[in-house]
Amino acid sequence: MKKASLIVAAEELVTCSPGGVIRRLDAMSDIGLVHNGAVAVIDGVIDAVGEESEILSSYETENLVRAKSAVPALVDAHTHPVFAGSRIKEYEMRANGSSYLDIMNMGGGIAGTVRNTRNASSEELLKLLLERLDRMFKCGTGTIEAKSGYGLSLDEELRELRIIKQASLIHPMDIVPTLLGAHAVPKEYASSLRNRRKYIDIVKNEMIPAAAEEGLAEFVDVFCEEGAFSISETEEIMDAAMAKGLKTRIHSEQFKSSGASLRAAAKGACSCDHLLGLSVEDIRKIRDYDTVCMFLPSSEFFLNVRNYGKMREAIDEGAAVGLATDFNAGSCLSESLPMTMSIAVIQMRIKPEEAILASTVNPACSIGRGDYAGSIERGRQADIICLGCGYRSWLYHFGVNMITDVIKKGKVYV
Ligand code: NIG
Ligand code: FE
Repeated sequence: MKKASLIVAAEELVTCSPGGVIRRLDAMSDIGLVHNGAVAVIDGVIDAVGEESEILSSYETENLVRAKSAVPALVDAHTHPVFAGSRIKEYEMRANGSSYLDIMNMGGGIAGTVRNTRNASSEELLKLLLERLDRMFKCGTGTIEAKSGYGLSLDEELRELRIIKQASLIHPMDIVPTLLGAHAVPKEYASSLRNRRKYIDIVKNEMIPAAAEEGLAEFVDVFCEEGAFSISETEEIMDAAMAKGLKTRIHSEQFKSSGASLRAAAKGACSCDHLLGLSVEDIRKIRDYDTVCMFLPSSEFFLNVRNYGKMREAIDEGAAVGLATDFNAGSCLSESLPMTMSIAVIQMRIKPEEAILASTVNPACSIGRGDYAGSIERGRQADIICLGCGYRSWLYHFGVNMITDVIKKGKVYV
């Protein structure tokens, strides 16, 4: 008998196998379900997956965890977790009828969080980040993409990326860092077109090279939207990123249709995110690329936009899709990816199986972690969440944490 450091046994074992390749169309429903399944783990790595009877006759262990269902730890491929301060006033203004764009035009929005974040000490930002990672982890997320973007100067953006790096050395969460210097033009550069140009040059010629040289970012993101950065500015910044060996992802068509998502996909963006304005016509073209169309319905829910975008059509047309929280102070103060998945099922006509693959295999591929995260298979990191209910009841029971154990690299956290 082989000795396993851990065995997880589940009435419904959702393996999401095979991982590491983007799922589309009908493959979005194939979650690799094993009834009465089990996983044997040795030193943080999955050694075998199969039926419980098979695994228990081949492995002995002192550490057996039982669950109603078990699924791969989730992958949240779009978060903004480094910030200080609260935007509760904006949340309350929306209850009185203001929109996100009204508030942004009044000098609130991203600019407000930039002020608060610049004024916070690095110790405070790290503490806040670790608390947020804990909440994500408890909700079942084992790997995230984390953006800077509330510093908007060379030093402040690098400071945020260094804090992300520090957190990744302390916390069990796997974190993939993204430079989002092009989140907004900071007010000190917003007064004229010439100054605006100067800021874009700082992003291209200072932030990107510094982040790449220090190994602080794997991705560069741009907020491509009227009032933020134009399509041609976005393309310029993407080129600068790729020239330094960084990959790209963008915020596009959050409020309006612009064609930006398709343009970014053609340039090699790993994901295009938000996409309320993404048209069916563009979906039929974007499906030719491996760019993941990332839908962020918690943000639409939080901003009360009442349009969740065309994820259903994107799946049916064969585009690569994912779901992510967009966790941030202004447009989604929720660390829960299962909540996002429930919104997708309830409001966007997404099947639970599709929501699961859109929160595991596909986002893992989009952040370059398809080789270890997003599926339960031999040789992969043992990142597994255990549920006190069947996998279908999980999202049905919305807004409530049904997770009994989070297993990260073979270690059990309750
Ligand atoms: O993805 N749209 C741009 N950025 C964020 C919002 C950030 C903020 O409001 O602080 C988003 O929704
Ligand atoms: Fe975002």
